[in-house]
Amino acid sequence: MSTIADATQPATPLSPPRGETHPPRYLMHKYWSRKAHNLVRDALVWGCPPGGRVLDLFCGSGVATVEAALSGRHGVGIDLNPLAIHIARHTLEPVDPALLRAAFDRVSRACRDDVLSLYAFPCACGSTATLSHVIWDEFYTQYYHPSQVKYNCPRCGKRGPLHLEPGRRDEARGLGRVIPRLKVSLHASAHQSVATVDELFTERAQLALEEIYQSISELPDRVMRDWMRFVFTAALPQASRLVFVIDHRGRSRSAPVKRKAELGSWTIPNYWIPKRHFEVNAWQCFEQRFRKVLRGKADLPAERISGSGRFVCGDAAEACRALPEQSFDMLFADPPYGGAVPYLGLSLMWAVWTEEAESLNFAREITMPMSNGKTGLARFRAQLVEAFAAARRVLKPGAAVVVTFNQKRADVWQALESALEEAGYRAEGRHHVPGARQSAKSLLVPEGSMQGDVWMRYRVE
Ligand SMILES: C[S@@+](CC[C@H](N)C(=O)[O-])C[C@H]1O[C@@H](n2cnc3c(N)ncnc32)[C@H](O)[C@@H]1O
Ligand SMILES: [Zn+2]
Repeated sequence: MSTIADATQPATPLSPPRGETHPPRYLMHKYWSRKAHNLVRDALVWGCPPGGRVLDLFCGSGVATVEAALSGRHGVGIDLNPLAIHIARHTLEPVDPALLRAAFDRVSRACRDDVLSLYAFPCACGSTATLSHVIWDEFYTQYYHPSQVKYNCPRCGKRGPLHLEPGRRDEARGLGRVIPRLKVSLHASAHQSVATVDELFTERAQLALEEIYQSISELPDRVMRDWMRFVFTAALPQASRLVFVIDHRGRSRSAPVKRKAELGSWTIPNYWIPKRHFEVNAWQCFEQRFRKVLRGKADLPAERISGSGRFVCGDAAEACRALPEQSFDMLFADPPYGGAVPYLGLSLMWAVWTEEAESLNFAREITMPMSNGKTGLARFRAQLVEAFAAARRVLKPGAAVVVTFNQKRADVWQALESALEEAGYRAEGRHHVPGARQSAKSLLVPEGSMQGDVWMRYRVE
């Protein structure tokens, strides 16, 4: 049995030194385990002639299909997750920045003041300030109190941080409205202690987000509505209670130690609410995301697209059956890493807003519940065989195949490798590429994932 330990091949045509950090086009919207674009690009150059066709089997946020389109190739990306397709499509699709700005301004005029009024905070100078951040601390189990705020005062210019007394009134509660669309149960694959989606947000954030979402829904132009929804879903993680606090101890020895808090983000692939977390002003999240989207679109103007790309939302095996036989020069595949990242479960936070929660096809998700030993592994392998066999039919004889994977467990590796063999692929070589930076996940769940990825080359006989 081979394991990652023998992934020590010398440099090959597709082994540049390491993955680069993401350019702005891949920084618009969070997705889990997005591949480094430079490594993907090298794989495409190695495996697909210019003008050729690439099948991107588990396309996720679409990096391989987008890079194919940017390098004069024609990509088709398939993913079961509607969130992945939503991100991939908006990454590749050109848009006029002037129209984006106009749509954003329209949303802003419709709801900004109302949303900001939810964050009113009495400044010591007597004026009403606007909260930009609140830090919530778990006081006792499941009861949180605001311990620190940052705000903007229009009169005296103060911004905080201001430390609040423990037990202070819970300002984000008691607003008295429930947002029905958020009362959806979280899937068991992705939660630890949170039961429904609404718990991922403070009550104030729920109201604020609903106001923004309603204003977007009222935009007259369908295309702009779709783009603003993209900005909206991109803003959700940072507006949630999943944002942890990076604490630095204060330096002063004499004064009581006040911790300097920095904004973290949602990095762990699970719905886990940190005992000390941020609530960031939801309008601010939306506005910041809008700027990121503008930068992302400026990074990928229509003139740069010399090939093409399209995306299909569906099960890999089923979608392949609808494609013409022997029509692709290359297969690129970044399959799910066992059960390390529960993609569909993690997408529920977004899908409840875009009304796609019902359509998440959990029954077809290729995954392996961590608890579910041998049966889970056998099922995972069988699903991979089915997907890769269906993909093989649409590949030309002699087509190049690049599969990238990240997993420490040897039995999961074995499942993938034997699945590829059974589906008719011949191994040609592999190498390990270190990641661009250490992921928070790899520090917290050391047995789940490894540093960087292994890139494997196969060939269709
Ligand atoms: C490792 S991720 C791919 C990430 C991608 N390379 C990127 O750069 O964003 C694996 C993907 O497989 C998808 N997936 C899981 N089961 C699937 C199935 N049956 N058919 C198609 N895609 C599936 C997941 O939704 C997830 O997006
Ligand atoms: Zn003031």
